[in-house]
Amino acid sequence: MALTSKPLSPDTWPAFARLVEKHHGIFGGCWCIAFHLTGDEAKRGAAAYRAMKEARVRDGTAHAALVFDGPNAVGWCQFGPTGELPNIRSRKAYEEGLNKLPDWRITCFFIDRERRGQGIASLALRGAIRSIAQLGGGTVEAYPEDYTGERTSSSFLCSGTLGMFEKTRFRKTRKIAMRRWVVVKRIRPARAQRKAIRT
Ligand SMILES: CC(C)(COP(=O)(O)OP(=O)(O)OC[C@H]1O[C@@H](n2cnc3c(N)ncnc32)[C@H](O)[C@@H]1OP(=O)(O)O)[C@@H](O)C(=O)NCCC(=O)NCCS
Repeated sequence: MALTSKPLSPDTWPAFARLVEKHHGIFGGCWCIAFHLTGDEAKRGAAAYRAMKEARVRDGTAHAALVFDGPNAVGWCQFGPTGELPNIRSRKAYEEGLNKLPDWRITCFFIDRERRGQGIASLALRGAIRSIAQLGGGTVEAYPEDYTGERTSSSFLCSGTLGMFEKTRFRKTRKIAMRRWVVVKRIRPARAQRKAIRT
C-alpha cells in the first residue's frame, strides 16, 4: 500500500496515540512533549504528558507530519513555530551564536521500530516541509546529527541526520555540539497562500 502523509490533528490523533502506545509512550512516556516544554518545568509522568499532548493537538499548538500506511501511522516528523518548540538540545550553545530566531523548527522524528530503514523519516520530512508551505512558509531550522558514512543507535537520531536535510536542500550554518548542526532553509508559501497574499 502507498504511504501518505497527513498533518497531526484531532482527526489523526487516534492513529498517533496508537503508534506511541505501541512503543510504550516513547522513551518511557515522553509522548513527544519534551521539545514543547520550557526546560525548567518539573518532570511529569506519561499520563500527564499524553494529556498535555492531546490538549495541544486539539488547540492547534502541536504540529507534525504523520506518515500513514493505510489506517496506521508509521512515523512522524514534528515541527512548529519557534515559540511552540523552545526546548531544543544544545540550547546554550545555540543561543550563544544566535542572530535571529527562525519562523519554524523541525525538532523530532519517530518511526515505528518495525518500519525503519525504508525511507519513512525522509518522507515525513517532505510532509513537514509541505505543511509549513501550506501554513505560510518562512525560515525553518533543524538540528540534525552528522553520522555521514557511519551507523549509530537510532535513538541518537531523533532530530534526524544531516544527510536527510542536505538532500532536501537545507544549508549547514553552524555546529552546536560535536555532531549536531544548525541547518536552515527558506520555504516559500504554497501556491494557494501566495495567491491569497496577492489578492
Ligand atoms: C532515526 C530514524 C528517525 C530514522 O528513520 P528511518 O525511516 O529509518 O530513516 P530513513 O530510512 O528515511 O533514512 C534517513 C537517513 O537516515 C540514515 N539513518 C537511519 N538510521 C540510521 C542509523 N541508525 N545510523 C546512521 N544513519 C541512519 C539513513 O541511512 C538515511 O540516510 P541517507 O538519507 O543518507 O540515505 C528512526 O530510526 C527512529 O525513529 N529512531 C528513533 C528516534 C527517537 O527515539 N525518537 C524519539 C522522539 S524524541
